[in-house]
Amino acid sequence: MIYLDHAATSWPKPAAVTRAMQAFLDEAGGNPGRAGHRRARASQALIETLRIKLARRIGGVEPQGVVFTLNGTDALNIAIKGALRPGDHVVTTQAEHNSVRRPLHGLARRGVIALTTVRADGEGFIDPDDVRRALTPKTRLVACLHVSNVTGTVQPIGDVGAIIREHGDALLLVDAAQSAGLLDVSPAALNADLVAFPGHKAIFGPPGTGVLLVGPRAELEPFREGGTGTDSENPLQPEDLPTRLEAGTPNTVGLAGLSAALDLLDPPSALAHEQRLLRRLIDQLAGHERIRLYGPLDGRRQVGVLSMNLAGTDPQDAAAILDDSFDIAVRPGLHCAPDMHRALGTHAAGALRASLASCTTEAQIDAFVAAVVRIAESTR
Ligand SMILES: Cc1ncc(COP(=O)(O)O)c(C=O)c1O
Repeated sequence: MIYLDHAATSWPKPAAVTRAMQAFLDEAGGNPGRAGHRRARASQALIETLRIKLARRIGGVEPQGVVFTLNGTDALNIAIKGALRPGDHVVTTQAEHNSVRRPLHGLARRGVIALTTVRADGEGFIDPDDVRRALTPKTRLVACLHVSNVTGTVQPIGDVGAIIREHGDALLLVDAAQSAGLLDVSPAALNADLVAFPGHKAIFGPPGTGVLLVGPRAELEPFREGGTGTDSENPLQPEDLPTRLEAGTPNTVGLAGLSAALDLLDPPSALAHEQRLLRRLIDQLAGHERIRLYGPLDGRRQVGVLSMNLAGTDPQDAAAILDDSFDIAVRPGLHCAPDMHRALGTHAAGALRASLASCTTEAQIDAFVAAVVRIAESTR
């Protein structure tokens, strides 16, 4: 199979990831922090070593600011629901995934927050000055994605962060689901306070892993409360990070895989590879009269994600033909980002998305191009 759905989850995972997960189950397997025995200690050591590794290699924060979550959505919910209080104002963007859009709309619908959404342009970019104009004295949070999962557009997020810092106490939450593993997502680099990302996309960890990076300005109420293996007499969730935000048994086997994935990770070369193949893809498809491409299309302000439509073929049908007749996996539809499709003018049927990764080859790109050209020309 030619797998071009890495923006959903990367596949196949490196063999070292699978081996580390198997080894964890066979050789460690205890519940970290819950007992003093050898297996519990081995699990605890794995998690704390990974926390330090993530803090150094990706986070640029103190290790206690690395909070393990179930996925990107979970990290975003912990940040959003932990930061906001009744009466707060929040600024977000039209480019957001439902994992930001839905929690914010839910809070607004229940009357907890007031919400302002700034527009994205026809290439998927937001304008930092629109964010500046949307800020009010009550703005507590700006929630903005780093890279669009529909167009691969890289947002001017550092500029957004700088504007927020000038404004005062508002926090910047960055959804780095499509950038972690490719770009610098440390809170310091993005001028952000909270950065959320899954481990299972460009980092190549297993599903069921995610991270919330918590910078020094952010104080979050726990969204989930329960056992931490520490301070057990306390009827309340401990004050200290990361346990304040990490109740319950963690996904230890997933974190074992994530740790192995991090050892293999080389973001600059993964990004360079994706962008080179993206240019190859764009060069071959741009200008085809029956194929419409969306996004910046410049291979520099874009990671390896490209959405398109083929004249005369619904994106769902095109994806089914690619799967059935060409053994190519892509994702059609609205990509959990309906407002972004409104910005692109593709809301009615969505689009067909090809998403690349460090393991994608030139031959795969060329085979995909040949297949979509054949489908587009078959309906002439
Ligand atoms: C931009 C963006 N944000 C958030 C998410 C949610 O991540 P997860 O699927 O790990 O919950 C995704 C997943 O596709 C995404 O693309």
